[in-house]
Amino acid sequence: MRQATVYIDTAALQYNLNRVKQLAPNAKVVSMVKANAYGHGVKDCLAALSSTDAFGVACLEEALEIRELGYTQPITLIEGVFSSDEMAQVLEKDIEVVIHHQAQLNWLREYKDQYIAKNLKVWVKLNSGMNRLGFKVPEIIEVINSLKAEGFTCVLAMHFANADSDQHPLNEQQKNQFLQVKAACEPVMGSCCNSAAIFKWPELNFDFVRPGIMLYGASPFADKSVKELNLKPVMTFTAEIIALNHIQAGESVGYGSTFTAETEMDIAIVSIGYGDGYPRAFPKQNYVSINGTLTCVIGRVAMDMIAIDVTGINAPLGTVIELWGKDRLVDEVAEANGTIGYELLCRMSARPIRKKI
Ligand SMILES: Cc1ncc(COP(=O)(O)O)c(C=O)c1O
Repeated sequence: MRQATVYIDTAALQYNLNRVKQLAPNAKVVSMVKANAYGHGVKDCLAALSSTDAFGVACLEEALEIRELGYTQPITLIEGVFSSDEMAQVLEKDIEVVIHHQAQLNWLREYKDQYIAKNLKVWVKLNSGMNRLGFKVPEIIEVINSLKAEGFTCVLAMHFANADSDQHPLNEQQKNQFLQVKAACEPVMGSCCNSAAIFKWPELNFDFVRPGIMLYGASPFADKSVKELNLKPVMTFTAEIIALNHIQAGESVGYGSTFTAETEMDIAIVSIGYGDGYPRAFPKQNYVSINGTLTCVIGRVAMDMIAIDVTGINAPLGTVIELWGKDRLVDEVAEANGTIGYELLCRMSARPIRKKI
C-alpha cells in the first residue's frame, strides 16, 4: 500500500492552545477551524481542542459539521450568512453570525426575537482599512448602538491586514479606529486578534482572541520560526522511498529533464507528489528530511513522485521521508515554494492516509 501519510499530533494541538491561553489569559479563545481545520482534519482537531471556548468557521456548512460531531461550544460564522434562509438554520443550531453589510443586518432583524432569546452574540465587523468586509467609521457606531438598543448583545470585530509586520502604518490606523469605535459603543465586547496579533499586542486581546495558524504549529511571521515562538508543529507529512537509482554525470532526472547530475550520484524516488498536496513549483531549492538529515529534492515534482539526492546517506527502500513536520518545517517548504505555510496546509489533498498520534 502507498504510504503517503499525514500524522496529526493532537498533544501538540493542545499544547499550542495552551500557549494561546498563556498569551491571552483574560480572553476567551475562538479556535479557527475553518477550511477543515487548516487542512488538518476537523474531526480530530475538534476533539483535541475541546477546552476551547468557541470555534470560528467561514460558512454554515462548516458550522453544521461541528454540530453534527456533537460539539456544543459557540460557533462564529466569520463571513456571516449568505442569504436570509441561512438565518433559520443558524438559529436552529445556535450559531453566531458576523454582520458586515446592510443586507445581513436586515436578515438578522427578520429573526430578531429568536436570536435574542437564544442569547447569541452578534459580531459586527469594522472595516478599518483592510477593505474586505465590514462597516466603516462612523456607520458602524450607529449600527452597533442601534443593535444594542434593540436588545442584541454585540461584539465589535476587526481583522488586521498586516499583523505580521512591525512597521506597516495601517496597523496604527486599524488599532486607533477599533479603539475609537469601542469607546463610542461601550459597553461592547471586542475581538481583533489573530495569531500574529496575539503575540504582538496583548493589550488588544479584549474579550475574544481568534487564533488560527498558531494552533497548528506554523508561524504567522515570515521572520520568526515556530521554535522561536514556542509552538509545536501539529502536522507531519511523510512518504516512503519506492525506488533507488545510481546515475552518472550528465544524466537527467524527471519530467522536463530539468535536473542534470554533475557527478555520479544516488537518487531515491519517493511516492509523493502534487496529487497529495505537495507543491510542484519551487523557485528556491527545496529539501526533505531523512531521520533529521536534510537532503535536496531534485528535478520536477510530479503528481505522484519526487526524486531526492541520497548520495552518501543510508536510505534503503521503504525509508520514511519527512516532507514537512518537526525537522523540515512547513514554513520552510512554503518559503522555498514562494508561499506561506497556511496555503500548503489548507491544500492538502484527500489522498494521503491520515493518522492521529
Ligand atoms: C476573521 C479572522 N480571524 C482570525 C483568523 C485567524 O488568523 P490566523 O490564522 O492568522 O491566526 C482568520 C484567518 O484567516 C480570520 O479570517
